[in-house]
Amino acid sequence: MTLHAPQFDIARILRDTSVQHVEYHPSLSSTSTVASELLGPLLGRAPAVVLADEQTAGRGRKGNVWWSSAGALTFSLVLNACEVPIAAERRPLIALAAGLAVRTVLTDIAPGFEFFVKWPNDVLTGAQKICGILVEQQTANDQQGLIIGIGINVNNSLREAPAEVSQRATSLFDLCGQSFELTDVLIRVLQQLDLRITQFVNQPRLALSEVNRASLLSGRTVTVLSRDAIISGHCIGIDEDGQLVLQTEQGLIRCSTGIVQQW
Ligand code: BTN
Repeated sequence: MTLHAPQFDIARILRDTSVQHVEYHPSLSSTSTVASELLGPLLGRAPAVVLADEQTAGRGRKGNVWWSSAGALTFSLVLNACEVPIAAERRPLIALAAGLAVRTVLTDIAPGFEFFVKWPNDVLTGAQKICGILVEQQTANDQQGLIIGIGINVNNSLREAPAEVSQRATSLFDLCGQSFELTDVLIRVLQQLDLRITQFVNQPRLALSEVNRASLLSGRTVTVLSRDAIISGHCIGIDEDGQLVLQTEQGLIRCSTGIVQQW
């Protein structure tokens, strides 16, 4: 049997963040899948984090696969939904809050690059994705849980990725040519997530203006596949419910969900 030394300092994560429990696995299918399987016990110890060095079946939005390799930071934060008083119709804001949190951290640790939040759930630099976010809501034992799955390409190289992924994604390592301490990046992201979610609850207008300042799509002509319709228009911004607002030939259209095909 080979012993696996965790590449994370779990004691430090528990000391420096509001997280009460870390469920760490060297390798698992997907941190979000495991979080949903263990949701009942994890809600009893929330906020909790499911953390892995490596995922074998990472999931993205709309049933997509999330490709990652060793060196990426992949985790899912489990929150009790009643601790996050954001109305159900405004839940898209949570992915945007997470995007803002990740963007803040990446800007701090890689100051030579510009990072943007791309509605509804990505962080990009230039046209390349560096982080994907998957927010899911689920019930266990009559309690509502929020599972915020975050994948950040940190010390992995996208040069190892399948061509269709490497063409449109990058990592901190590929950008900066250096490695980063994963525990440090995780702690920073968890601290920022706390701040940003609190900001969306207590100061929603300020939080929204920060999202709009960080938004990649604002001011661009954008094409979105939303609920089987293809919508093209000039992006005015993101509204208070987290919807993308497009000025189209038919007037203003608000997209609550969708896949951005062109921008
Ligand atoms: C997307 O870009 O569509 C979202 C990708 C989310 C990936 C993260 S990695 C950690 C967590 N576990 C998963 O299986 N998915 C999320």
